[in-house]
Amino acid sequence: MTLKIFKIMGLIEQIIANAQAEKQRIVLPEGDEPRTLKAADRIIADGIADVILIGPAQKIADMTAEFGLKNIGKARIIDPKNNPDRQKYAEMLYELRKNKGMTMEQAEGLAENFMYLGILLVKAGEADGLVSGARSTTGDMLRPALQIIKTVPGVTCVSGAFIMFLPEGCPYGTDGKMVFADCAVTPMPTAEQLAEIAICTADTAKNIAKIDPAVAILSFSTKGSAKHEVVDKVIEATNIAQERRPDLLLDGELQADAAIVPSVGSSKAPGSKVAGKANTLVFPCLEVGNIAYKLVQRLAGAEAVGPVLQGLAKPCNDLSRGCSIDDVYKLVAITCNQAIAQKQ
Ligand SMILES: CC(C)(COP(=O)(O)OP(=O)(O)OC[C@H]1O[C@@H](n2cnc3c(N)ncnc32)[C@H](O)[C@@H]1OP(=O)(O)O)[C@@H](O)C(=O)NCCC(=O)NCCS
Repeated sequence: MTLKIFKIMGLIEQIIANAQAEKQRIVLPEGDEPRTLKAADRIIADGIADVILIGPAQKIADMTAEFGLKNIGKARIIDPKNNPDRQKYAEMLYELRKNKGMTMEQAEGLAENFMYLGILLVKAGEADGLVSGARSTTGDMLRPALQIIKTVPGVTCVSGAFIMFLPEGCPYGTDGKMVFADCAVTPMPTAEQLAEIAICTADTAKNIAKIDPAVAILSFSTKGSAKHEVVDKVIEATNIAQERRPDLLLDGELQADAAIVPSVGSSKAPGSKVAGKANTLVFPCLEVGNIAYKLVQRLAGAEAVGPVLQGLAKPCNDLSRGCSIDDVYKLVAITCNQAIAQKQ
């Protein structure tokens, strides 16, 4: 347990140092949410990011005084109901969504919504990333992010990865870490989307988990051992991903044991460069990915950090509603790292 915590600390410290070295602007749309506001104070104090808080200005001022926060004065605060730039954002939203049937009146209303406003700030380039979710659901943030920020060029499918910190003595993964995806967003990906998820997950493994990715696209079949249309989808996804990113160590279709256990990998998939040593696991659909990460967390005692949303043109990340101040702080640092990686 101690070693696992040490590994998490090691990675998080690295992520924090990267964020401090190249400060990004992060918008927190739930600026009047207590854990978010307290985290913002620490984020500013530690020089992790320049913070933009969205929320009622007076309420934020009252809470700042009540909690004795010393650094909130350095944040940019935007009151969505009293925003001199409201019309600018409404027009921007209208232009982006009018072909989807949005009216100017609807856009004006949404420009006063804390989440839409946060997403619009990112879209406008006034913020480099966004973190929310202490009070809102995943869908509340994902929907406007998908509609407005959209995907990074070359990607059509957003997905969510978890960094899995494995228990001490676990022989799998790299430096005690694995990356799992998609565990959060796309219920039933096509082969094309699955290929994109695999590529994005490889990049998350490298840029955020700081491991050299060996990516396995998983199935209930290894190299033709079973025939089914869902297996065909995984084979097709593997071909697309390999063709698109020949630089990646990536293979499929592999069963989970063939992917991570060297002896099983060499017997079931001889010649595969990934079988037996995969550290980045891509699941064939959201159901499997979500169930798998929760089982590994509960049965194996792994620590799951995420979801890190991947594939968005600008990083936006979602907290669990049960999050702690520390979770907000860490997710902001992770979001800064994503923003820095996207600019490279
Ligand atoms: C992601 C999600 C919120 C999309 O919501 P939805 O109501 O189905 O959204 P829609 O299908 O109406 O799409 C809205 C927009 O997002 C886009 N979109 C939807 N899913 C997308 C994806 N995975 N990647 C990229 N864009 C996507 C659509 O193309 C659409 O864009 P447009 O309006 O510009 O045409 C939904 O798929 C979802 O709830 N996923 C599961 C999330 C979840 O509960 N996870 C639990 C574990 S944390």
